[in-house]
Amino acid sequence: MKSSELIGEINRLRKEKNAVIMAHYYQTGEIQEIADYVGDSLALAQWAAKTGADIIVICGVHFMGETAKILSPGKKVLIPDTAAGCSLADSCPADKFAEFVNAHPGYKVISYVNTTAAVKALTDVVVTSTNARQIVETFDKDEKIIFGPDRNLGNYINSITGRDMLLWDGACHVHEKFSVEKIIKLKEVYPDALVLAHPECKKPVLTVADYVGSTAALLKFSTKSDCNVFIVATESGILHEMQKANPKKTFIPAPPNDSTCACNECNFMRLNTLEKLYDCLKNETPEILIDEKMQKAAVKPIKKMLEISEKLGL
Ligand code: 13P
Ligand code: SF4
Repeated sequence: MKSSELIGEINRLRKEKNAVIMAHYYQTGEIQEIADYVGDSLALAQWAAKTGADIIVICGVHFMGETAKILSPGKKVLIPDTAAGCSLADSCPADKFAEFVNAHPGYKVISYVNTTAAVKALTDVVVTSTNARQIVETFDKDEKIIFGPDRNLGNYINSITGRDMLLWDGACHVHEKFSVEKIIKLKEVYPDALVLAHPECKKPVLTVADYVGSTAALLKFSTKSDCNVFIVATESGILHEMQKANPKKTFIPAPPNDSTCACNECNFMRLNTLEKLYDCLKNETPEILIDEKMQKAAVKPIKKMLEISEKLGL
């Protein structure tokens, strides 16, 4: 089918089935364009908790589908490709994380949303990169905290809050790949450019960044800023929305350290295509299913995050 036909069929099916399509900022431009909602991990969870649709299609990665299903267990949650995983979530197997938690009695557990349902079930409160700082700060300064799985985000939050959280040693293969040397060289070509970086990047990249934030925060910053040129150190899918919101500004993807690529894409996020989205809506599969006991345990720390975020106006 041609792309225009696929779009027509997706539109027909979503109406017929009362389905809603939610896409993360790291999806391809064509998927972002067809989605009912495009946002960061926090926004996807907030929308999934509130939607009146019967079917939720999450165009993102597996843990985002799981989060939607945990929050809306009565709804059918579909993802276009079950192979769309996440190296960060994979870097934290639930059995190993449980051993780590058990080895540290008395610690509160804060987990990034980029985790499996089983890890969330071991967690006191979930965070995303949009609310991690504020949620950590709701705990007393001397509270003993385990933060997992992203060591870069954890180190960054420790540095800006003066905390000493115990970190799980996990990372995202996309965000760890940015080359600080290439960013510095780009700054020589574009001396007026501001460097924007996601906190999943390594410390040297965060050190040269003019602004550090979640995908939604980077988008907001680039829109409000008087600057016209930005070097963006996060998955390059976000450039679609940045360029759309700021057609006169220039956005340059920060390069990874492998010599061939000019921008950095998440191979998992990019598994989703219009064809797979159409098939998934038509066949109502692959569906995310979560065992009831797991859902009940994992929903508590996610709801806690949503409650705190609402109170803080995030
Ligand atoms: P945010 O959506 O919180 O910015 O996280 C980025 C990410 O890596 C999602 O996989
Ligand atoms: Fe996971 Fe990194 Fe891909 Fe986000 S960009 S889905 S953290 S592997």
